[in-house]
Amino acid sequence: MVLTSITDEILDLKRQRKAMILAHHYQNAEIQELADSVGDSLELARQAREFSGDVIAFCGVWFMAETAKALNPDRVVIVPDANAGCSLVDACPVQELRAFKRMHPDHVVVSYINTSIEVKAESDILCTSRNAVKIVNSIPAAQPVLFLPDINLGNYVMRQTGRQNMKIWQGACIVHATFPARRVSRARAEHPTALVAAHPECPPDVLSMADFIGSTSAIVDWVETQAAQEFIIMTESGIRYSLERVAPGKTFHFVANENCNCSECPYMRLNTLEKLRDALDTLKPEVELSTELMERARLPIERMLAVR
Ligand code: 13P
Ligand code: SF4
Repeated sequence: MVLTSITDEILDLKRQRKAMILAHHYQNAEIQELADSVGDSLELARQAREFSGDVIAFCGVWFMAETAKALNPDRVVIVPDANAGCSLVDACPVQELRAFKRMHPDHVVVSYINTSIEVKAESDILCTSRNAVKIVNSIPAAQPVLFLPDINLGNYVMRQTGRQNMKIWQGACIVHATFPARRVSRARAEHPTALVAAHPECPPDVLSMADFIGSTSAIVDWVETQAAQEFIIMTESGIRYSLERVAPGKTFHFVANENCNCSECPYMRLNTLEKLRDALDTLKPEVELSTELMERARLPIERMLAVR
């Protein structure tokens, strides 16, 4: 058989490998087009847990693939580019978390899914941007909480829950934390009929201007239900593909941050169709974790997935 395009090669390898391609909303459009499932970090974790084939090709960042591996210890999990990291993962080294726990043994550790597998293994329960408020509300009110590692999501959760006994790690996303509020004001002035949707990793002054705050999938779902024709989207611009799929003909404006003067996650952009093809061909880069680490990390992941 002569394969005519990289897309055909990927689909052929996917069949041979009994693989499933999972893609985050921030992935390039051509990857999303090929994916079996596109979603936010919570949906992708749920999809990974239900998978019964042999290989998960995770088109997202490394911590998401580690989560999928912990839920599928006997399956092969690959990522197109092993350097697809995350500034939030880097913000919370496991040794620092262990030191905190020694000093504050009474705190329940709630970790955002954007953490290393070692940090997950040290956590009591995980959360994502979609369920963080629900997860914190599921913890008895008198119980002190450490929320890590995203300062903006942590502060948002604190405002939403009214919880006072919560310490928040000082990590931040290099994409969302540097969206300047003045650029959002300018975008609103330029597009007066546009509604603003923001990811909770944005700073509080940006969130205060939002008509809607939610995870990537929650933003997509919300946009689909709105009568408005224009939106200012305060998250990574790869989401445009998902937005245009559910709301064709509507206009989406993205605001540049002060980090790259763009709204792109440099880690998410590392994955390409060529790298996906090569990963399916060679089964590398593969996420490889010790059984002991996966077992310890699975507990807080499963606790999160049990909260509906
Ligand atoms: P979601 O939980 O919306 O998928 O977001 C993950 C993320 O990395 C946002 O920057
Ligand atoms: Fe991490 Fe931010 Fe990229 Fe999301 S957008 S993967 S939080 S660096």
